[in-house]
This record gives sequence, structure tokens and C-alpha cells, in this order.
Amino acid sequence: MAISATITGIGRYVPPQVLTNADLEKMVETTDEWIVERTGIRERHIAPPDWATSDLAVEAAKLALADAGISSHDIDLIIVGTATPDMIFPATACLVQDRIGAKNAGAYDLSAACSSFVYGLAMAYGVITGGLARRVLVIGAETLSRITNWKDRSTCVLFGDSAGAVVVEACPPGEGFLSFFLGADGSGGDLLKLPAGGSRLPASYETVERDLHYIYQNGREVFKFAVKAMPEAIEQVLRRANLTQDEVKWYIPHQANLRIIEAASKRLGEPMEKFIVNIDRYGNTSSASVPVALSEAVDDGRICPGDVVVLVAFGGGFTFGACALRWTGRR
Ligand code: UT7
Repeated sequence: MAISATITGIGRYVPPQVLTNADLEKMVETTDEWIVERTGIRERHIAPPDWATSDLAVEAAKLALADAGISSHDIDLIIVGTATPDMIFPATACLVQDRIGAKNAGAYDLSAACSSFVYGLAMAYGVITGGLARRVLVIGAETLSRITNWKDRSTCVLFGDSAGAVVVEACPPGEGFLSFFLGADGSGGDLLKLPAGGSRLPASYETVERDLHYIYQNGREVFKFAVKAMPEAIEQVLRRANLTQDEVKWYIPHQANLRIIEAASKRLGEPMEKFIVNIDRYGNTSSASVPVALSEAVDDGRICPGDVVVLVAFGGGFTFGACALRWTGRR
């Protein structure tokens, strides 16, 4: 390929309100000890009551545009990865397009659950290298608090709200994105889902009474899938880029459970020090978790120009995916 693509700007927005494990102890029968030991989560952030996913996405997008030093008019395409769109339609990406004034951009939502941001980067790479766009804004944004059953201790301790955004632009080959791997296993669809509100089970009094508008998951089965899927995605993406694990400086995994990240590190024989982890502060923020962790690690100087970084995610669907890149830094 004569050109590649790279991240030229990055931003994140995490709402200020914090919900701690101690707060949850007052809401359901749980303990800080159980949550920390089983998940690694200590607190999570919750969006203000009148905020929706697009509001978080807009804040992250503005920061990414400023970081890239471009105007919203320069964006050709906006992709919002989310499992919690403001509405089923119109796409949250269109709401963002209007709010940031990206008058020259197409816009659509991408639904691959927690893998959506990694999938979105692959789509951005494809349209840029295929000549369909010059600059793409890829956003992972979630308000999972809106679909969390706050009476269900098996799920309500896990999730949080946040958004991360990147600007993707063309760059010389060998820099920026080096390879992608995208996978899916739809046979696991029933193990992690939002049962009602779609065309299969439209909203009704009954669906509300039966709590079918909240996240349902079979935690143990999702866990089993995740510990297999993450190392597999990493191995595949490294093979495609012709890279060895030794050449990787940082892994940025989807932050769903610290034990899942530790299992992946063990399976790969890689030290935990190479994995960027912030789940203790944010919980699982689905498609936002990878860009938020990437943004923090860039801002605090852990990720430097030239570093090989692997982003890896898994989620409902099931979906999984990874991206290998050579960090180019801001231009
Ligand atoms: O982004 C996508 C995806 N989601 C995931 O990646 C989730 C993957 N799965 C997980 O992270 C873990 O399965 C969980 C954290 C959800 C659960 O951890 P676990 O070690 O698999 O626990 P478990 O579901 O096997 O439950 C063990 C026990 C049960 O009690 P009994 O039946 O052994 O008496 C649960 O009722 O822990 C109990 N339990 C709790 N106890 C205190 C479940 N949730 C809680 C809680 N506090 N919050």
C-alpha cells in the first residue's frame, strides 16, 4: 500500500461524578473486597442525569480535533462506536456531526460492543488508504449507567461512563497502523446482550416489568471467551504485521476485568508492566475503554513516538479485534 494511516490527535472525556465501591455497598449486597478481588475495579464515573452518549462524545471529539490542530470542517467521516446510542436512530455520530459543526463529514454508528473502537480504527484505515476520506474522527463513547440494572449486583459493579476520540489521517507506510485483526463468534450472542428494545422484543410494559432493558450477561462464559480471544487477537495482529512480542512496547487491552488482563499476560508470557491498566478508576466503559487508556498513556508520557503499541478488545457479539501501530506522536 502506498500510504498508511495514523492517529494525529486524541482526546478523552470522563464525567466528574464518581461512584465508589463503598457507594455500591449501600445499594446492593456487595463488598469493596469482593469487587476489587474479582474485578480490580475501585470506582467508576457516571454521566450527569441529563447527559447522553453524544454529550460525552462531543467533549472527547473537540479535544481530539484541538490536539490534531484541525477544524471540524476538515473531517470527512465520523464513526461513533457505541452500545449506548442516544437513540436507535438517528445515529449518535450524526448528532456529534451537528454539534461540532463537521459540515463536510459523513457520519455513522458502529455496533461491535466493546470492540467497536478497534473496529472503527480499521474502518478509518480502510477508507483513508482506499482514497475515500482524508481525515476520519473515530469515537468510542458510552453511557452504560443508563442500561445498568442498579439492583443486580452481578453487573452493576462493573460498568461506567466515558468517551475517547481520535483523528486518523494518512501517513507514510511503516508508520501509524501496521496491521488489524477483526473477529466474531455470533454463537455467543445470547451470553452478553441488551434483550429488549430492538425489533425482536420491542419495548412493552412486559419487557419493562421483566427488566429486559438492562445489560444481561453470563459472566463466567464471557470471561472464558475473553481469556481466549485477547491472546488470539494479539497473536494474529502481530503475525500480520510481521512483529514479535519483544518489539511491542505497550498493550492497551479493553478494560473489563483485571483478571482477564492478567490471564492474557500470563498466556502470552508478557509482563503485566507492558499492559496499560486503568480499570481501577473507571470500571468497564465498553468501546470507550481503549481510547481513554490510550489517551492517558500518551498524555503522561508512557507512550512515545516510535513505540509499537497493540490495542486489543473483545465484547458482546461476540466480537474481538486488535490493531498494531507505531505511535507517530502529534504532528
Ligand atoms: O466488556 C464485556 C464484558 N464483560 C466481561 O468481560 C465480564 C466477564 N466476566 C467477569 O468479569 C466475571 O465473571 C464477573 C466479575 C462478572 C463475576 O466474577 P466471577 O468470579 O465469575 O463470579 P461468579 O459470577 O462466578 O459469582 C461468584 C459468586 C456468586 O455467589 P455463589 O453463587 O458462589 O454463592 C455470585 O452470586 O459471587 C457472587 N457475586 C457477588 N458477590 C458479591 C456476584 N456478584 C457479586 C457482587 N458482590 N457484586
